[in-house]
Amino acid sequence: MSKPRAQFATRIGVIAASVGSAIGLGNIWRFPYEAGQHGGGAFLLIYILFVFAIGVPIICSEFLIGRSSHSNVLGAFQKLEQKGSKWHLISYVGILSSLMILSFYSVVAGWTLEYTIQSVAGGLKDSSPDYLANYFQEFTTQSNRSLMWTIVFLLLNYLIIRKGLKNGIERMSNIMTPLLFVILLVFCVNSLMMPGAADGLKFLFVPDFSKITPKVMLGALGQAFFSLSLGVSTLITYASYFKKDVPLVRSASIIAGLDTLFAIVAGLIIFPALFTYGIEPTEGPKLVFEVLPYIFSQTPGGQIWAAAFFFLLFLASITSTISMSEISISFFCEEWKMTREKASMLNTVIAIVFGSLCALSFGAAADWKIFGMTVFDLFNFTTANLLMPVCGIVFAIFAGWFMDKKLVRSQLTNDETLKVRTYKSIVFSLRYIAPLAILSIFLYQHILLDLVFLFFSQNQ
Ligand code: PHE
Repeated sequence: MSKPRAQFATRIGVIAASVGSAIGLGNIWRFPYEAGQHGGGAFLLIYILFVFAIGVPIICSEFLIGRSSHSNVLGAFQKLEQKGSKWHLISYVGILSSLMILSFYSVVAGWTLEYTIQSVAGGLKDSSPDYLANYFQEFTTQSNRSLMWTIVFLLLNYLIIRKGLKNGIERMSNIMTPLLFVILLVFCVNSLMMPGAADGLKFLFVPDFSKITPKVMLGALGQAFFSLSLGVSTLITYASYFKKDVPLVRSASIIAGLDTLFAIVAGLIIFPALFTYGIEPTEGPKLVFEVLPYIFSQTPGGQIWAAAFFFLLFLASITSTISMSEISISFFCEEWKMTREKASMLNTVIAIVFGSLCALSFGAAADWKIFGMTVFDLFNFTTANLLMPVCGIVFAIFAGWFMDKKLVRSQLTNDETLKVRTYKSIVFSLRYIAPLAILSIFLYQHILLDLVFLFFSQNQ
C-alpha cells in the first residue's frame, strides 16, 4: 500500500478550503459581467435557482464520490463503478477542463497583480472612467505585460501547490477569505450611498421576465457551475481528503450560500456604481477592471483600498487555482506515479503554455479565432457552458442511479449519525432534476441555433 493520503486537519479547514475554491474571480469578476450581459434581475433569479436546485445536489454528488473512494478522480470512478463500465472516462474531461480553466483564469488573476502594483504605485489614482478604460485596453493588448503576469501568477501558484495540502491550502484560505469579505462589505455600503444606487438595485434585483432567453439560461447555468467549482471534479478531489465526520450536505449548503453571498455583494458594489457613472452593464470581461478602480479613486484613501482589494482578490484567485491544480496533480501522482514536485511542475508547464495563448488573445493573438472566439473566450465559454455542465450530468446520474444506494445514504448521513432532512430531495435532484434541467437547456440552445440557421438560410 502507498502511504496514507493527506487529510484536512479540521472541519473548518474543509469548509474553508472548499469555500476558498469556490470564491474567487468567478464571484467578483465573472458574476457581475455575466449578470450585466444577461439582463440583471432575471439572470440572478435563475442563477440562484440553479445554485440550489442543481448546484447543491451536484456538490453533494462530488463530495460523496470523493470521500467514499479516497482517490484521485480517475481512481474514484474506477473504484466505484461496476466492472467493465466506462464511467471513469469522464474524469479525463474533468482533468482537461481544470487545465483549461487554470490557463485562462491565470490571465485574469495576473491582471489582479498588475492592478495591485499599480494601486500601490499610484498609477490608477485620480483617473476618469475613460482613462481607466484606455488603461485596461493598453495593458491587455500590450501583450507582454499581461503575459508576464500570467506566468508570474502561475509560478506563485506552483510554489504553493508543490508543498502539498496541509501546509499550503488550509492556512491561506482560513485567513484570506474573511478579509476579502470585510473589504467587499465596506464597498458595498459605499456603493449603496451613490446616487445611482436605486437604479443599480433595480437592475440587479427586479427581474424582467421578458429577458429570459435560452442564452440567459445557459449563461446562468454555466456561471453556477463555474462559481461553485463544479463539474471539473475539484470537489471530488478535495472530498477525497475529507474525514469521516464531515457533514457533506451541510457543508455543500454552506459553500453554496457563502458563494452566492459573495457574488451578490460584488453585484451590490458594481451595479450602483455603473448607474452612477453611466457605464454600460454589458461591457463584458473588462467591466470590473474599469469600474472598481474608479470607485476606489473616488474614495478617501482610495489607493490603499485599491491595493488591499486587488491583493485579496489575487489571494482569492490563488485559493481557486490551487484547487484546480489539485485535480491534475493528484491524478499525475497517483496514476502516473509522479512525485508531487514533478506533478506540480507538469501542471504548471501546461498552464503556462495555454495560459500564454490566452494572455495573447487580447493582443498579438487577437485574430486567432476558433469557432469565432479567441482562445481566451473559447476556454472561458466551453468550460463553463459546456464541459462543466456535461460532467455535472454524468456525476448526478452516476451518484443518483448507478452507485450503491447504501453507500450513497451512508455518505450523506455519515452512517445514519446525521439527520439529513433534505436527503430525499437531493437524491431526487440527482436522479431527475439536475440531469433533465441541464439537458433541456442544452437542447433548447441547440434547437434555437437550428432555427436561427433555418431562418437565415430561408431568407437568403
Ligand atoms: N469557483 C472558482 C471561482 O469562482 C473557479 C473554479 C472553477 C475553481 C473550477 C475550481 C474549479 O473563481
